[in-house]
Parts: sequence; structure tokens; C-alpha cells
Amino acid sequence: MERWTIQKLLNWITEFLTQKGIEAPRLSAELLLTHVLGLSRIELYTLFDRQVEPAKLETLRALVKRCGEHEPVAYLVGQCEFYSLPLKITRDCLIPRPETELLVERAVEFLRKRPGAQEVLDLCTGSGCIAAAVAKNCKDCSIIATDICDKALATAAQNLSLLKLTERVRLLCGDLFDPIIAGLDAAKFDLIMSNPPYVSDAEFAKLDKNVRDYEPRRALYGGTNGLDIYRRIADGVGDFLKADGAMMLEIGYAQGEAIQSLLEATGLFADIRIEKDSSRNDRVAIAKRK
Ligand SMILES: C[S@@+](CC[C@H](N)C(=O)[O-])C[C@H]1O[C@@H](n2cnc3c(N)ncnc32)[C@H](O)[C@@H]1O
Repeated sequence: MERWTIQKLLNWITEFLTQKGIEAPRLSAELLLTHVLGLSRIELYTLFDRQVEPAKLETLRALVKRCGEHEPVAYLVGQCEFYSLPLKITRDCLIPRPETELLVERAVEFLRKRPGAQEVLDLCTGSGCIAAAVAKNCKDCSIIATDICDKALATAAQNLSLLKLTERVRLLCGDLFDPIIAGLDAAKFDLIMSNPPYVSDAEFAKLDKNVRDYEPRRALYGGTNGLDIYRRIADGVGDFLKADGAMMLEIGYAQGEAIQSLLEATGLFADIRIEKDSSRNDRVAIAKRK
């Protein structure tokens, strides 16, 4: 019988995923192996010659096949990393993207400069990644995080519990600001942040297969030109943001101008800035209230 060591599997899976056109094939192979074998990535290399038992090979084979069909690795292994935090992920949640870390960075900078306790709102929280990362890095803030999808919120609840943040991040289910009116005591926030769905009709048709076929449409699609949810956030934000508070929104790669106009039209903000990410794409809108 053929002897399958970790090294041989790593090489074989990498080669297989490369042929299937999967992005980052070596990393994907490592993540699948660590998941099935219950090892860390370092251990894969220190235990290179360890033989893998047949039952685990069967499990691995099924996952590698699905990965080769472009099912995202984060869904296959049920976890991912965001802002150096380990997070649980299911197919009800968008997989947190590295680009979204820019929004977290700006939120953390803003909150750390303000004295005293801070009230924060995270709209469209999904897995809870943004709320969790901000709460972990700003000890004086309390966060309300909302999402329309109760299944995504169940995963967010799991993440907050594993990260010991349940006391500081409260989850509410509903449409944008709706659950706050019903459930919040203090209705004015120092910071309102959101990574809403913002993919347009034209972009949706061009999404990679691993995104279009696997990630929740409700987490991606933002109406004909991708701006529907931003418009509704701009309509509601005046009732919830403190006088010197800020709103920070993740935006699509070419949405800067449209979002700038949308926010200017509210007449609420003294300063509106569009920031680009490391790939020079529009990425975050930062608006400071008058
Ligand atoms: C782009 S995902 C962002 C998830 C997470 N914040 C992140 O950055 O990875 C957008 C999220 O908005 C939620 N959503 C879509 N429409 C919504 C609405 N009208 N009200 C509240 N949440 C909504 C989706 O369920 C999804 O979890």
C-alpha cells in the first residue's frame, strides 16, 4: 500500500490545487492538512515524515476535491484569521477580507484618541469580525453589532464567546438601525462603522466563482449600482451619531466619489475623507460629524 507522509501529501495537494487554478495553493494545502490532522502549520513541517492514517486520508480527499471545485478553504475548515484573531466561519457569513483590516485600524486609532468610555455601533456585522477586532484593541468601548441574518449572528455570538468579548459586544438582529430603536438605552454613538454589501449588478456577474457560488448573496449584493445600503445608512445616521462622532464605512474599489457625494448631501459632516488601500483602490470612507 502507498505510504502517504505529510510531506508527500503537502506536495500532492499543492500540485492538484495549482492545476485547478486555486489561489494560494500551498497555503490552502497547509490549511486543509492542519484541519484534518489537528496540527499547527509549524508542526506540518516538523513532522514532515509522519505517515497519515487511511481514515484521515479519506477525509482529506473529500475536502481537497471540494477545494479543487473552488469552495473557499475558510468554509471547508470552518475558520479563518482576521486582525490576528482566530474566527469561526460558516457559509452564512462573508469570509472576512484582509482589506477590511484598514477600517479596523482607523476605528482603533479614532477610539484610542478619545477619552473615557466609548459607544460604538457596527452595522452589518456578519461573523462579528470588525466588532471583535475593535473591542479587543480598545478596552474602553462597548459595541452594539447588528445584522439582518440570524444565522450569521449565531456565528458572531460563538466568536465573541471564544474571544471572551460577550460582555462588551451586544448582538442585535434586524435591518440596519431598526433593532437599536427597539433595544438600545443610549441612542448616540461615538463611532458608527460598517462593511455593508456593496457589489453592483455589473460586478456581481464578474465575481470569482469561489465568491459568487459560495458566499451569501445577501452579504455581497448592494443593489443595481452597489449603493443601496449606503443610501439607507446615510438616511439614518443623523439620529444615532454623536455631535463630534465619526462614521467609517468600507467601500468598493471605485465607489469613493459616489460615497463622498452621498455623505456630503446629508449636510451632517464637517470632514469627509476617502482612503485608499495598499492596492490603491478606494477602501474606507471616514466622515466626522459637525
Ligand atoms: C459585506 S458583509 C460584512 C460582514 C462583516 N462585517 C465583514 O466585514 O466581514 C455584509 C453583511 O451585511 C448583512 N446585511 C445585509 N443587508 C443588511 C441589512 N439590511 N441590515 C443589516 N444587515 C444586513 C449581511 O447579512 C452580511 O452579514
